[in-house]
Amino acid sequence: MNNLKIGVLSLTAFLTFAGMENITAENIKIDTQNSSLVLQADKGKKLRHLYYGGKITDTDAKNLRPAVGKIYNAYPDYGMTTMPETAIAMIHGDGNMTLDLVVDGVSSRKEDGADIQTITLKDNYYPVIVKVNYKTRPDENVMETWTEITNNEKSPVTLTRFASGYLPIRKGDVWLSSFHGNWGNEAKVTEEPLTRGLKVIKSHEGVRNSRYDHSEVMFSLDGKPDENSGKAIGAALCYGGNYKLRIDTDETDSHHFFAGINEEDSHYKLGKGETFTTPALALAWSDEGIGGVSRSFHKWGRNHKLAHGDKPRKVLLNSWEGVYFDINEKGMADMMKNIASMGGELFVMDDGWFGVKYPRNNDTTGLGDWIVDAKKLPGGIQGLIDEAKKNNISFGIWIEPEMVNSKSELFEKHPEYVVKADHRNLKYGRGKTQLNLDMSNPKVQEIVFNIVDTLMTKYPEIDYIKWDANMDIENHGSQYLPADRQSHLYIDYMKGLEKTLDKIRAKYPDVTIQACASGGGRVNYGILPWFDEFWTSDNTDALQRIYMQWGTSYFFPAIAMASHISAAPNHQTRRTIPIKFRTDVAMSGRLGMEIQPNDMTVQEKEQTKKAINEYKEIRPIVQFGDLYRLMSPYDEKGVASLMYVAPEKDKAVFYWWKTRAFRNEILPKVAMKGLDPDKIYIVKELNSIDNKKLSFEGKSYSGKFLMENGLEMPVNHDLPKDQQTDWSSRVLLLESK
Ligand code: DGJ
Repeated sequence: MNNLKIGVLSLTAFLTFAGMENITAENIKIDTQNSSLVLQADKGKKLRHLYYGGKITDTDAKNLRPAVGKIYNAYPDYGMTTMPETAIAMIHGDGNMTLDLVVDGVSSRKEDGADIQTITLKDNYYPVIVKVNYKTRPDENVMETWTEITNNEKSPVTLTRFASGYLPIRKGDVWLSSFHGNWGNEAKVTEEPLTRGLKVIKSHEGVRNSRYDHSEVMFSLDGKPDENSGKAIGAALCYGGNYKLRIDTDETDSHHFFAGINEEDSHYKLGKGETFTTPALALAWSDEGIGGVSRSFHKWGRNHKLAHGDKPRKVLLNSWEGVYFDINEKGMADMMKNIASMGGELFVMDDGWFGVKYPRNNDTTGLGDWIVDAKKLPGGIQGLIDEAKKNNISFGIWIEPEMVNSKSELFEKHPEYVVKADHRNLKYGRGKTQLNLDMSNPKVQEIVFNIVDTLMTKYPEIDYIKWDANMDIENHGSQYLPADRQSHLYIDYMKGLEKTLDKIRAKYPDVTIQACASGGGRVNYGILPWFDEFWTSDNTDALQRIYMQWGTSYFFPAIAMASHISAAPNHQTRRTIPIKFRTDVAMSGRLGMEIQPNDMTVQEKEQTKKAINEYKEIRPIVQFGDLYRLMSPYDEKGVASLMYVAPEKDKAVFYWWKTRAFRNEILPKVAMKGLDPDKIYIVKELNSIDNKKLSFEGKSYSGKFLMENGLEMPVNHDLPKDQQTDWSSRVLLLESK
């Protein structure tokens, strides 16, 4: 039975806790497809966490008892106990800083095929209500939890902490996997055992919240993280703004995980009758190691958390690294012709196409003035769309709607629309002129909506929008919010953005929208519901991409991970990588190009054309299949490898990349995963460049053999001497007979 409330009438056993307290048991079981969460919700008592793990029976849930000495409030409140970390804290109208929340009732409802279980808590003195919600779907392993906090006091209360959720994690050899980096080096994996004390992962950036640290973590409960075995929990805070994850390991070596909006500099006042809703914290449990958690998140992400997760993505060419700001009609037409001739399906014109009084020739001018620069594009956007049509491809366009340059007509007319602190001179971002528009202001929300609305109304054939954001919130101050609500800026910015995106999606449900924030600064499940995909990083170097895409793949599916073939030497690392390796990495995500095709050699073009055509064949497997990470680049074994397996297990694509070149180094053999042991698979190499075919080309192997042994890859490519390099990679298609 799903999401069951157990023992309302039947179970009236009196339980004895370490505190020698007698209470009446009323356990609530909340089930996903593979897991259960059990809470004890006795009216008038604290809501208690009893269990989160593999799915259990109703009887087990009914008879669950807290371990001696382990009474965990499911949503710890501040003030009455000495628990060092709490989920919620507030200052009441009269200055009292305590909360004492007890269960008031339990209810459930259905919403869009999901089950929502709500436990209502009320303070036992003040008229404050907190609803703790859990959302599950019978065919998904991910559950979401969030809270709604309502103030019914006469005067405003100030929320000083408001986590989305809390999870106690049992003691043991528990490891944390988290994702950190910087611009051009995002989402690198860090693994560490949890030790005594407090670990905090947070964002202060306001907009580009995954640029440095990610709001997703995994806990491996049985020692060092393993891809395939051991119990693991994945947690993703679904929020696009400032967040804070806290993991406190206490004196009993138990761990306490809290996740929510970062309350620092964001204390939130709630007037009488107002409700604050926290973003969702998504949780998944697996006994198939961290790989199992990833697959659960990918499926749930595709089905419920990103726009059009069931639609294959087009192969595109984006103009940025090809021409940067040098946009002109001929250049765009050339690029369209080129991408079409290589089999691409979409062309995206990046930055540099707009601005009349302040033309966008570099990053110092024009943001805010979304009018085409007719000097660069005399035929306007319609001319480009017509050109795309001639080439039988779709057309997309870049915008950065939340931002403005001080050198723009918008800023000249409306300096009051930018984020700015009273009495302070403005501090500028990119180009020393960039500023944030204040999304908390409804007039600004209207402007941002109109940018998209005007483009889409005038040019309904626009198929794709790249929505960029290249500045963190600086100048803490809203010219719109009143003096006593200045601390709401970060949160109200996000609320305003979400409201605007809702309006855009309601009117334009079909357009593909990419979330970009100086590369991978907006990779999170808070922003994805309005977006189809994200730009994984501004760094397109194929070798470094293996590391970044590896980390990104822990929570995000390949369909959302834009992965582009770019020039050699690479513009970010200056590394020269042969086209074969560049294509083999790019086609492990959502394949695209980020290059000036006019500068490509004939051989590069041919190789890319082949790769695009072959990608189309494997696109459903990559974009909708199950990911198995086989050999991590972080293990520095000289090889990284992963594969995607179609849900029916009749097809799979295997990727193998040599990550370094040492003479006579013995590279490990990579065993495959996720296949049907009883199926027979025929092997076909894609993107092949060798003179001699691989020894196993066209041969058949059982899934069992491939998973127990794998296929040994030759270390180098078989090429004439003058074409040999130190790079080597393979992509194999496996198809069952
Ligand atoms: C930052 C993005 O990450 C790039 O891809 C490009 O769109 C530039 N902005 C344009 O200014």
